Amino acid sequence: MVNVAILGFGTVGSGVAEVLTGHEGSIERKAGGLIRLKYILDVRDFPDSPFADRFVKDFAVIESDPEVDIVVETIGGASIALEFTRRALEAGKSVVTSNKELVATCGYELTQLAREKGVCYLFEASVGGGIPIIRPLSQCLAANEILEIYGILNGTTNYILTRMIRAGLTFDAALAEAQEKGYAERDPSADVDGHDACRKICILADIAFGRHISPDQVPTQGITGVTLADVDYAESAGKKIKLLGRAIRGEDGRVCAYVAPHLVDQSDPLAGVEDVFNAISVRGDAIGDVMFYGRGAGKLPTASAVVADVIDVARNMGHRKALSWEPGGPDAACGTDGLKSRWYVRAEAAADELRARLPGCKLLARRESGGGEAACLTEEELTRGQMEERLAGLNLRSALRVLD
Ligand code: NDP
Ligand code: HSE
Repeated sequence: MVNVAILGFGTVGSGVAEVLTGHEGSIERKAGGLIRLKYILDVRDFPDSPFADRFVKDFAVIESDPEVDIVVETIGGASIALEFTRRALEAGKSVVTSNKELVATCGYELTQLAREKGVCYLFEASVGGGIPIIRPLSQCLAANEILEIYGILNGTTNYILTRMIRAGLTFDAALAEAQEKGYAERDPSADVDGHDACRKICILADIAFGRHISPDQVPTQGITGVTLADVDYAESAGKKIKLLGRAIRGEDGRVCAYVAPHLVDQSDPLAGVEDVFNAISVRGDAIGDVMFYGRGAGKLPTASAVVADVIDVARNMGHRKALSWEPGGPDAACGTDGLKSRWYVRAEAAADELRARLPGCKLLARRESGGGEAACLTEEELTRGQMEERLAGLNLRSALRVLD
């Protein structure tokens, strides 16, 4: 029998308890033995929970119980969760988590500690919610040199954009719905300002390219600057606006990773990814392009990924499943200064002025008049610096990369 303790009985932790106990029979068969939920640690009391008898308040109870084999960390954040994760690994217990902030910032240290202690630190749920991506990237695609990863990595922002565009909700109303459904982070600015997607692209880059990429090496822009005018102009050009995380391996081995809203063509599979769904595209030198799609957040989809890791650890008890990468450094990432793309720009200018500064650009029209502004798609691929230089002196209301 394998004993599990869950830390944090919130959206994900309660889903893990539900799935672990609800599917006990089939999980036992797949794990090759019974997996018992022995403890749940939370700061709150849950007297009406069917698991009420398993709650503890002191982590030391879990840490010092030799029967506990696997600790599921679903508290979130990088403070108390880091302390408990370190202590669990030090005590020789494997740790499974959905906490991308912790993996993105301290994943190198924690995978090393797991290695030293001969246990596992697994985090399938940290990227893409229920979508299998960490295991496919580290195992199924291991034969490839990964060239690029990009995709919709945050369910909350995709949900907000979908609800604003499809149902005409305000930003605040759409965010409130996402919070109600349990998709948003405790501090939702992590979603809307792009930090959550940033952490996820860092984790994917760590695994794909083999060196730690720190979130502070990744230029990050969220969706708060995207207006309905931008959505309208994009639609008039047959495109949709999607928040993408992207990591590209340069020829010198450095990684160019960033997060920003992009214009995506309606014919691109990413354009059809709506609601809380995520999609992640991976380009390998042997496989070409492969895409992973599914629910990117929410209680049960995320629990599905966490419990899969628990089963994996239980099935391989005593055999460490290694997931690790090399330390990072300033030379691991190269920023986006040299990255060229076509651009969507909206500026306080006459259409002729934009055409003169961006020869060959495609002028865009929207349903309502833009009031002293014009918008276009550049024909040329330009770096951000080149684009800004061309438009110097104009009041630039919006500038988004086009995904080609
Ligand atoms: P919640 O806030 O719903 O759950 C966290 C739980 O931990 C809460 O019950 C909280 O109690 C409890 N907690 C806080 N501090 C402590 C402590 N010191 N000791 C014990 N328990 C504590 O978060 P989620 O379940 O949404 O997210 C958990 C993690 O999973 C985060 O890292 C998140 O980013 C990640 N994640 C979330 C997904 C989702 O769809 N929600 C999807 C994928 C990953 P209290 O509320 O009283 O503070
Ligand atoms: N807040 C995150 C999201 C949860 O909306 O994608 C899943 O990681």
